[in-house]
Parts: sequence; C-alpha cells; structure tokens
Amino acid sequence: MKILVTGGAGFIGSAVVRYIIKHTSHYVINIDKLTYAANPQALENISNSEKYIFEKVDICSQQDLDRVFKLHHPNAVIHLAAESHVDRSIVCPSVFIKSNILNTFTLLEVTRNYLIYLFKEI
Ligand SMILES: NC(=O)c1ccc[n+]([C@@H]2O[C@H](COP(=O)([O-])OP(=O)(O)OC[C@H]3O[C@@H](n4cnc5c(N)ncnc54)[C@H](O)[C@@H]3O)[C@@H](O)[C@H]2O)c1
Repeated sequence: MKILVTGGAGFIGSAVVRYIIKHTSHYVINIDKLTYAANPQALENISNSEKYIFEKVDICSQQDLDRVFKLHHPNAVIHLAAESHVDRSIVCPSVFIKSNILNTFTLLEVTRNYLIYLFKEI
C-alpha cells in the first residue's frame, strides 16, 4: 500500500514515517512544505529507502496536490501538516485558520476528486 503522509517532516509525522518504513512493507509519499517546524534530519535514517518518496509541497496548492495524487496513486492519507505551535497562534491566528482549516479542506477536496477520477478509470 502507498500511504501519503502530510507534514511528514514534523514531530509526529517524522515518527509515523519512520515507523511505516522500518516496520511495515508499505510505501510512504511524504509531502511537506518544510516550514520552521520541520526537522528533515529526523528522516535521515529512512530517506534512502526505496519505499520512501519526498515531495516539497504546500498543501494549500490544489494544483500541486492533484499532481502528487495522480503521479503516486496513494491508497491512504494520513494528514499531519499543521501549524501546531500554540504561542504562534496567539500572535498570528489567521495563519492557523488557513493552515489547519482551509488547507485541510483543500486536501479533502483533492482526495475526493482523486476518488472520482479513479472510479471513472474503472
Ligand atoms: N506534537 C504533539 O504532541 C501532538 C499531539 C497530538 C496531536 N498532534 C497533532 O498532530 C499534528 C502534527 O503535529 P506536530 O507536532 O508533528 O507538528 P509540527 O509543527 O512538528 O509539524 C508540522 C509539519 O507540517 C508541515 N507543514 C505545515 N504547514 C504545511 C503546509 N501548508 N503544507 C505542507 N506541510 C506543512 C511543517 O513543515 C512540519 O513539518 C497536528 O495536527 C497536531 O495538532 C500533535
């Protein structure tokens, strides 16, 4: 199975990606914008795996997400890309609304459109 993980360079995402690559036979497509919160070093041990693909993508871009879905054909999505630092949400809440609500909606729409596209192909 190919699992698309968003935010796979973050704290939780990198642990999930490492676990899947090391302990399962599944493939991972990690999409991450690599913000200040990303820690790509946490993926160093698995980044050369043939089961691992990284795409530097901002999930606000419907066009980029469409491309990734049609290129890699994921079977499942684990959505962990987010603004997660509470202090920053007090200073600038609009970034959180955009990232955590609007971008999640974009991802859901792209996923739904991809499923419609798959059913048309059958
Ligand atoms: N850290 C925890 O203890 C914890 C506990 C429970 C739930 N969660 C939830 O898990 C999720 C991830 O948390 P975390 O601690 O790993 O966050 P994090 O801040 O460490 O990582 C977030 C990742 O998302 C990426 N990202 C942010 N915006 C993006 C965008 N627009 N497009 C693509 N990538 C983007 C960042 O580059 C980063 O790598 C959040 O929803 C959080 O609420 C976290």
